[in-house]
Amino acid sequence: MLDEQYRREALTFDKQQLPSIPATVGWEAPSNIALVKYWGKKAIQQPVNPSVSMTLSNMHTQTRIHYSRAKKDEGRIWLRFNGIEDHPFKDRIQRYLNHVKPFFPFISHLDLHIDTRNSFPHSAGMASSASAMSSLALSLCSLEKDLLEEPGEPSDFFQKASFMARLGSGSAARSVYGGYVEWGQHEGGSDEYARPFPGPIAEPFPVLNDSVLVVSSQPKKINSSSGHALMDNHPYREARAAQAEENMGRISRALKEGDFKSFAATTEEEALSLHAMMLSSRPGYSLLKEATTEIIDRIRSYRYSTGTSVAFTLDAGPNLHLLYPTREKEKIRVWMNQQLKPLCEGEKMIHDFTGNGPQRLDK
Ligand code: DP6
Repeated sequence: MLDEQYRREALTFDKQQLPSIPATVGWEAPSNIALVKYWGKKAIQQPVNPSVSMTLSNMHTQTRIHYSRAKKDEGRIWLRFNGIEDHPFKDRIQRYLNHVKPFFPFISHLDLHIDTRNSFPHSAGMASSASAMSSLALSLCSLEKDLLEEPGEPSDFFQKASFMARLGSGSAARSVYGGYVEWGQHEGGSDEYARPFPGPIAEPFPVLNDSVLVVSSQPKKINSSSGHALMDNHPYREARAAQAEENMGRISRALKEGDFKSFAATTEEEALSLHAMMLSSRPGYSLLKEATTEIIDRIRSYRYSTGTSVAFTLDAGPNLHLLYPTREKEKIRVWMNQQLKPLCEGEKMIHDFTGNGPQRLDK
C-alpha cells in the first residue's frame, strides 16, 4: 500500500530541510476526458470501477508555489486563482492541503503563495478540478524533492504525483501523464494511482481531436462529489461496475487495433450510462439539456448517413465532447459549424486534441 509507505517516509522529515531562502516551484497540467467513466467511490478517493481517459492539450492549469520558511510557528497559505485573491476555490485547496499534511509535513512550516490559472475561461462551464489538482499535486511533489535536494525526477515521481492528485480529485490522478491513461484495478492497475495506458496505440488514436460543444456554462445543480456519493446506495451499483470493467477491455482493444467503430460505441455507451446513473439515483437528477439530446441525435444521424468516424462523450454536465480523427477534421469542422454551433451557448466551441502530459514550469 502506497498510502502507508508515503506516511512512513514523511515521518523522517526534519526541520533542517526547510529552505533558508524563498523559492518557487510550478507545473502546467492538462485536463483529461474520460472514455470509461469513474463514477462512485469506495474508501478514501478510490474508485468503485476502473477508468481510462485521454489527456488534453490546450485545456490546462498552471500552478506556481512561492514558498519560504514560515515566520510564525504555523505556515500560512495565500491563493490567487485566475488572478483573483480569495477565490471560493481557496476553501477546497485549504482542505486539500490539510488532508495531505501527513504526507507532506513541510506544509505546516512554510508560507505558501499559490498562484493558479486556467487556460480556459471559468465561464465556459468546463471542469477544472482535474488540471487544477494535478498541477498543485505535481508542484507539491517537486517542492518536496527540492527540500530533500534530490537531483532529477525519481522514477516514482509521477506515481506519487498521481496518488497525491487523486486525494484532491479522482480524475486528477489521470492528468499527470500524456496520451491515454488508466486508473483503477484492471489488469495490474491500482486504485491508488493512475498509469499510462499499457501497450501501443494504433492509428487514428495517437492524436485524436476533441471539440467541446458548450451547451451551458452555468454551475451544475449537483456537483460531482455529491453525484459520486449517490452511487453508494445506487440500485445499479454492481451492474455499473461490471459494465465499466467490460468497457475497459473494449476500449483497450479498440485503441490497440485502431477500431473507431467499437471505440465510438463504447465511449457513447459510457457517457449515456453515466447520465443514466444520475437519472436513476435516489433522488434522481438530470444534468442534460434539450440541446444536449438534440446534438446527440444530429451526431448519430450524421454518422449513420455519411459513415464519418465521429463519436461523442459527456462529462458530468450538459456539454459534449466530439471525438474524431484528423483525417475527418476538415469535413467535420464544416458540418459542426453549420449543424452544431448554433445549438451551443453563445455558439461556443473549444477545439482540443490529445496532449503529451504535464510540464514543469521555469521558475
Ligand atoms: C464524470 O474527479 O470530479 O468526470 O473525485 O469527487 O473530485 P472527485 O470527482 P471528479 O469526478 C469526475 C467524474 C467524471 C468521470 C471521470 O472523469 O472519470
